[in-house]
Amino acid sequence: MGAQEKVAIVTGGARGIGKACAMDLARAGYALVLVDLLEKELAETAALISAEGRQVLTFVADVSSHQRAGEVVAQTIETFGRIDFLLNNAGRSAPVGILEISEDEFDRAIAINLKSCFNYIQHTAPHMLKQRSGRIVSMSSLNALSGGVTAAVSRFAYAAAKAGILGMTRALAKELGPVIAINAICPGVIRTEIDTNVTDRAEEVTKGIALGRLGCADDVAQLVTFLATSEPCFMTGQTLTVDGFQFNV
Ligand SMILES: NC(=O)c1ccc[n+]([C@@H]2O[C@H](COP(=O)([O-])OP(=O)(O)OC[C@H]3O[C@@H](n4cnc5c(N)ncnc54)[C@H](O)[C@@H]3O)[C@@H](O)[C@H]2O)c1
Repeated sequence: MGAQEKVAIVTGGARGIGKACAMDLARAGYALVLVDLLEKELAETAALISAEGRQVLTFVADVSSHQRAGEVVAQTIETFGRIDFLLNNAGRSAPVGILEISEDEFDRAIAINLKSCFNYIQHTAPHMLKQRSGRIVSMSSLNALSGGVTAAVSRFAYAAAKAGILGMTRALAKELGPVIAINAICPGVIRTEIDTNVTDRAEEVTKGIALGRLGCADDVAQLVTFLATSEPCFMTGQTLTVDGFQFNV
């Protein structure tokens, strides 16, 4: 590792928004640690990062496992000696209404979308505090603020988990400041493979977006890279929405 090379962990970094963020961070000079369940996509994204001339480690791991998060962070420290930026991006939609959802499905939605953030922050923060610097961003959702784009399919468990991220972010900004800056992002409808239920209705959804289009992964990546790299940094505990101003929710 070059003396000046910074290190970023990106969960859910194999595809979609996480992949775009990892690529943008690589271009900004970061070595990358990618965590995901998708082995093939992880390898493909890692190859693209290597082609940018950056070091990259990959872990096939479920972000809902606290123990696995500890192993990922320990191996990151062993390899690179530091962690400058953590992006809690892995997540999964849970389009099931309150009357149909099982207890297991609810627990899983919370584990993947909210507990995952706790897992990675708890293992990463001690290293950032020790090195006296660090930034964290967690991917929430516009669903956390609006309850969802459409009433046709309820995503209440997903919305609950994503809203939990916002409270956690504000409380941790107090607990981890003045050393660590931590913020949350609420993307609106972004074209990825997470939940084609909404993107399939692009024309109808776009009518309610002031900027007249759905978002793309790079729209989110630009904001993430800004939050990782801006100097000086006077922004923490915030919820930043990137949705082209979706006014019909
Ligand atoms: N696409 C949107 O419209 C949108 C809107 C708001 C918020 N988000 C959030 O942005 C983040 C990225 O979503 P995306 O749209 O790129 O979706 P995506 O499905 O393309 O990517 C999510 C990635 O997370 C990984 N992942 C899922 N569960 C995991 C687990 N348990 N352990 C490890 N990895 C796991 C997936 O394998 C995938 O690579 C998510 O947290 C999502 O909730 C997306």
